[in-house]
Amino acid sequence: MVQILIKYGGSMDIQEVFELVSDDLQKVETELSRNLESSVLLIPEAGKYILLSGGKRFRPLILILSARLCGYTGLHHVPLAGVFEFIHTATLLHDDVVDNAEVRRGSSSVNAVWGNETSILLGDYLLSKSFSVLTRVGDLSILKVMSDTTTRLAQGEIMELQRCGDPLTTEDDYISIITEKTAVLISAACRVGAILGHASHEKEKALEGFGLNMGIAFQLIDDLLDYVATEEEFGKAIGKDLCEGKVTLPLIHTLQVSNNHDRERIIKIIESDDQEEQEEDLSTVIDLIRGHGGIERTYETAREYVETARGFLDGFNACKEKEALLGVADYVIKRKW
Ligand code: IPE
Ligand code: IPE
Ligand code: MG
Ligand code: MG
Repeated sequence: MVQILIKYGGSMDIQEVFELVSDDLQKVETELSRNLESSVLLIPEAGKYILLSGGKRFRPLILILSARLCGYTGLHHVPLAGVFEFIHTATLLHDDVVDNAEVRRGSSSVNAVWGNETSILLGDYLLSKSFSVLTRVGDLSILKVMSDTTTRLAQGEIMELQRCGDPLTTEDDYISIITEKTAVLISAACRVGAILGHASHEKEKALEGFGLNMGIAFQLIDDLLDYVATEEEFGKAIGKDLCEGKVTLPLIHTLQVSNNHDRERIIKIIESDDQEEQEEDLSTVIDLIRGHGGIERTYETAREYVETARGFLDGFNACKEKEALLGVADYVIKRKW
């Protein structure tokens, strides 16, 4: 017991984690609004609509915690946390067009309100603005991390598009996709915190690994919630992945273990674009996923990635920030939205 406590330390409750950095997160909110100021009024209008609509601020949170863990006491973490939220939001604006999503953060998506064109162009604006802020911060190693990260992110979305509707997608393919499209940004937030704090190479690598594994778990749970959450809690439509032909782990597992008859039924549903059958198809697939242990399997896989993530923090001395990051890792598999 003592050994376990020494190895992992305690984990902080997520509410407490947010309270720990609430001063900095407040400054990030001001930064987000300031960076949306423009004489082109659609930018602050649609920009505030999406940005102030209740995102978790997960990436700013972990950047601030990582910077503090590495002893950073300067001011750059605030604009940089804003950059992470802007880049994340840009990917959501583009992703909702690609996924034909009509609900985001519990409200109509930007594409549903203003159309696809606005969603794409606003995403471009947020992305470009992010790089202006990055050059103003002026740290070339951070700029390099961010350019590589956004490139990989776009690559991940394209990889996913290519695999769309493919029942032969393997678990390895899927993990590669979610690593690129989601985990690299979460990993970069942790790594940039380490760079700010002038952490050693080992500590920077450790935080990068922590973020990467936690990021994979984060997307695994998102893909699980896509089948089992309620729209009210999740803030997004349920069953969207199946509807768009995205073959995620709950489905990959079910395709792997089911008999020929069930496998054929699922493949037919993945390939069908019959709108009228959609609801019935979703409930058929949910029943099959549940019946074949696809929920437990996905949850268990996410739990293993979180366990690996936690291990990356072993080399850091016990402190509030370490406890908080461990709490964030635990939250990733407990979350309902
Ligand atoms: C949604 O991210 C997209 C994924 C990578 C799964 P979040 O769940 O962090 O979305 P918000 O920012 O809280 O809305
Ligand atoms: C994550 O994938 C999106 C990005 C990383 C851009 P999803 O398509 O699953 O995200 P949601 O469910 O729409 O938020
Ligand atoms: Mg989507
Ligand atoms: Mg999703």
